[in-house]
Amino acid sequence: MRYTLHNAVIVTGASSRRGALVIDNGRIAAIRYEEPFLLGSPYADGTAVDLQGRFLFAGGIDAHVHFREPGLTHKGDIASESRAALLGGITAFIDMPNTIPPATTQERLLEKCRLAAGRSWCHYAFHRGAANDVSSIQTTDFQPVPGISPALKVFLGSSTGNLLVNDPATLEAIFRQSETPVFVHSEDETIIRANLAAARQRFGDGIPIAWHPQIRSREACIASTRRAIDAALRFGTHLHILHVSTEEEAELIRTAKGYSPHITAETGAHYLWFCDEDYERLGMRIRCNPAIKTARDREALIAAVRDGTIDTLGSDHAPHLLSEKERPYLEAPSGIPSIQESLSVLLTVTRRNGIPATRVASLISERIADILRIEGRGHLVPGNAADLIVVDPDAVWTVGKPTCKCGWSPFEGETLTGRIDQVWLAGVPIVSAGRLLSPIPAGQPLRFRSPAD
Ligand code: DOR
Ligand code: ZN
Repeated sequence: MRYTLHNAVIVTGASSRRGALVIDNGRIAAIRYEEPFLLGSPYADGTAVDLQGRFLFAGGIDAHVHFREPGLTHKGDIASESRAALLGGITAFIDMPNTIPPATTQERLLEKCRLAAGRSWCHYAFHRGAANDVSSIQTTDFQPVPGISPALKVFLGSSTGNLLVNDPATLEAIFRQSETPVFVHSEDETIIRANLAAARQRFGDGIPIAWHPQIRSREACIASTRRAIDAALRFGTHLHILHVSTEEEAELIRTAKGYSPHITAETGAHYLWFCDEDYERLGMRIRCNPAIKTARDREALIAAVRDGTIDTLGSDHAPHLLSEKERPYLEAPSGIPSIQESLSVLLTVTRRNGIPATRVASLISERIADILRIEGRGHLVPGNAADLIVVDPDAVWTVGKPTCKCGWSPFEGETLTGRIDQVWLAGVPIVSAGRLLSPIPAGQPLRFRSPAD
């Protein structure tokens, strides 16, 4: 099929300009900025689709999701969560390894690929997980396999699952040997355990949820991030710091980027939207690790989004049942389901703060495609797959119940500006006005270029 999406504002990391994008047989065939399209003229190749001045971005690539399959499928599964992702403008996801069993071996990663085949609504891949024993995972000679991410996910602080890596020798070996990016969940486990013990002394079993950021404290994040950056700079490792949540870490990362192009960082929409004042209203609904911190941290993170210190947006979609979340602090899980709202929240935050749409293009797809060397996706260039989203930047709407399996999100009831109106997957319109247009999940495994080429 050949389409011309015309009368669009084509947004890339480099520019935001009126133009038309031609799709042929699933791929971007051409991008035209010439005059007729300035006038909205349907000088079309194939079927003309008038985007009425709306924004056209590459589809979101969310490299930080927890889709819970295998092992935790009462919370979510690849089919249910990828469908919600697609409705939210995500055309590719990369899933974290803290499933049951954890994805720490090639066999388990291949098993996850088998589970996704024919059931995923978005393109997909799976991160490799590090365990406390480095021999369990290959850090060198990464050979690209479709669906297996080159990144190694390292939990420096424990969270859902049992993938903590706190053995100094293992950590050193990972940073020394890894030829591909190391993605870290950066919190210091020793500090967290001491804070938790102190909270138990003070509150017994009745720790209030508002105490969460005192337990998963800023000091825990800062100490861990400082150590990770030191190690990465020492060995020249590519370090990607996930869900950055404090002003101080943003500053550490900004400085480190002056020394190495291989220090990159992610934040999540919830850190740009909520702050500790919201615990009173939303309680356990916004409990996640790292914890949501202060309004001042939120401002610093927005500044870091603006100046490029933060490279990527990851939803950290971490579904749990509300009934699980409602248990007492010591028994309840951390994690926020947000995949359907994440991009729209970013659109809202950037617009409110006068951050250009070009930054959004970098954050949602371009940078992560570069960091992971994703083949043929993430950038609007001829030859790449036509995975696209059409955004109405002016639409004001209220978030309803999400369609992910757990059926709730902390963003419900919030008013956002910027709506995903259409999603195209491999050159086919697949979502329009919040509805799926096809009954068939069409996601394909992502492919990665090897570190050598
Ligand atoms: O809050 C979190 N939830 N942080 C994580 O690191 C894991 C996640 C989950 O899997 O529930
Ligand atoms: Zn996570």
